[in-house]
Amino acid sequence: MKKPSVLVARAIFPQTLAYLSEHFEVESNQADEVWSPLELTRRLHGKVGVLTTGSDRIDSALLQANPQLKIVANMAVGFNNFDLPAITAAGVVASNTPDVLTESTADFGFALLMATARRVTESEHYLRAGKWTKWSYDMFAGAEVHGSTLGIIGMGRIGQGVARRGALGFGMKVVYHNRSQLSPQLEAECKAQYVSKEELLKTADHVVLVVPYSAETHHTIGAQELGLMKPTATLINIARGGIVDDAALAKALAAGQIAAAGLDVFEGEPTLNPELLKVPNVVLTPHIASATTSTRLAMAQLAAENLVSYLTQGRALTPLNTVPTDR
Ligand code: DGY
Repeated sequence: MKKPSVLVARAIFPQTLAYLSEHFEVESNQADEVWSPLELTRRLHGKVGVLTTGSDRIDSALLQANPQLKIVANMAVGFNNFDLPAITAAGVVASNTPDVLTESTADFGFALLMATARRVTESEHYLRAGKWTKWSYDMFAGAEVHGSTLGIIGMGRIGQGVARRGALGFGMKVVYHNRSQLSPQLEAECKAQYVSKEELLKTADHVVLVVPYSAETHHTIGAQELGLMKPTATLINIARGGIVDDAALAKALAAGQIAAAGLDVFEGEPTLNPELLKVPNVVLTPHIASATTSTRLAMAQLAAENLVSYLTQGRALTPLNTVPTDR
């Protein structure tokens, strides 16, 4: 019997492809070309499932052109590349990859916080440029991490991981703001105190953003919020581009309104606001918060298992929606 066909929209681990090939005819993109929405739509013809990454948009036009599609499996915990209402209305299952990346991503959030507070990349650029000729008492003096106040906006699994690192590892006071307050037990585990967004911005020495992107969270941090922060504070974005107004942030950094920022995600990435490249007090990384080999492997495997489980047994492992099963 002919196996069903699936598409893998970006390059992926060979072992993930091998696993998928046990169950499906697989068209893959090992050349890692970035397909236009039209090309993705065209490649999906005849496919019942697709493994996507955060840069592959699934919307109603693509779904209408591919009524045979049954599941879209994102290799990411974030899914703002999915028009979830349109996917659900089309009777298609959507899945993501929660949990497997929580700890690695929280590690990276903390790494970015430390690099930003302690001016790691700025001082390395100085050294590499051959500018280091003598030690001096205030050279690249940064902000304290241990014992300072950590403010976390978005207290899901990754936010809680960042909180635990700060509270238990660095003796930080942790405040957080979230759509809903955590249970007393989780608050105690994270040693975190719920505060308003305004109080968090006014009191935190380091603000870490871990909220999912949506119309409601667009520009959670803009000029007004930056204006509330301490001039000595740092801002870390490991959430999504668009959570921060990057133009307003570049202005605030250039004016010294806040001390520094660490950004792993950007509005319009992989293109950056050019003003961000002009300011020295920002650490910039190319959306790598979950990028350890074992975590990326686990994400790819979970996305693939979602395809296999749904298409062979009618049940996705980590679904984002529910659809009628008789499709
Ligand atoms: C996620 O999982 O949402 C990450 O941003 C992708 O690496």
